[in-house]
Amino acid sequence: MKYIVPGFPIQRMRRLRENPTVREMVRENHLRPEDLIYPLFVVPGENVNNPVSSMPGVSQLSIDLLVKEAVDAVKAGVKAVEIFGIPPEKDGFGSGAYDPNGIVQEAVRAVRKACPDLYIITDVCLCQFTDHGHCGIVEGHRVLNDPTLAYLGRAAVSHAQAGADMVAPSDMMDGRVSAIRAALDEAGFNHIPIMSYSAKYASAFYGPFREAAESTPQWGDRRSYQMDPGNSNEALRETALDIQEGCDIIMVKPGLSYMDIIYRLKQDFGMPVAVYNVSGEYAMVKAAAANGWIDEKKTVLEILLSFKRSGADMIITYHAKDVVRWLAE
Ligand code: PBG
Repeated sequence: MKYIVPGFPIQRMRRLRENPTVREMVRENHLRPEDLIYPLFVVPGENVNNPVSSMPGVSQLSIDLLVKEAVDAVKAGVKAVEIFGIPPEKDGFGSGAYDPNGIVQEAVRAVRKACPDLYIITDVCLCQFTDHGHCGIVEGHRVLNDPTLAYLGRAAVSHAQAGADMVAPSDMMDGRVSAIRAALDEAGFNHIPIMSYSAKYASAFYGPFREAAESTPQWGDRRSYQMDPGNSNEALRETALDIQEGCDIIMVKPGLSYMDIIYRLKQDFGMPVAVYNVSGEYAMVKAAAANGWIDEKKTVLEILLSFKRSGADMIITYHAKDVVRWLAE
């Protein structure tokens, strides 16, 4: 029987797949240690290591153990971390978020001292610090936009003063990038970049993080400020605004269910794009791997490479320390 296929037998895609060397030569996308940002959770106290049950391998750490973890990560090949703080006390205004001696600020100072070359990013948000668990100031059951902005600006400045290299606002208030930019500039930090969680969706995949960060909203949900998962044009408008307001890096969050958004943002804006491989995505991989249903290393490397292929330049991932070790093997 004769096959009538245009191109075949002259074209054979398999020619470049048989030999591992040539396979490597024609590979279009690569995963490098430089692409990865390792999130860390810091809590008050000393010698505290609280494993997060829904995120095997991730713990809340007190500053002394956080420093050890950062040193270990640097040794493994991690180049950048993002620090999330859980304060000793919460209040209506999230004052722990901008306390110059708050948990994040102290953690940044300690990690900076132990790891001078580590790139330290801080998450700028109020939700871990407010008693109601929302990302802004509230009145009744409304999250107020404009009154929140000044607090975010103060938080960002306090992080920069503590020695953070970059700030990453994740609150999704309108106008927060320009408020943070203005506050940083006024305080003498016009060289500190802003990585904006620009396309951040109201997602079920944040569940385990809220256990890790103790930031579950006490009433309602985050749909009045985070994006509707049904929308993609809106992600372009939202991101365009953040760019106009002066952000340096744009972000898509979560990752796996939003690869189309990564692709569209990269195509449309040509800006550096970060993706957040969020807690729920991590938990799913860990659960399946623990059951022996998938190969953890191969699955993680494939997921992260897919983010690169979609257009992401950098990936925030709880797998970062494992991955840099695997890449070095
Ligand atoms: C805080 C924040 C969240 C995440 C990062 N920063 C949670 C949220 O919006 O509820 C989620 C990260 C993850 O799930 O890994 N605003």
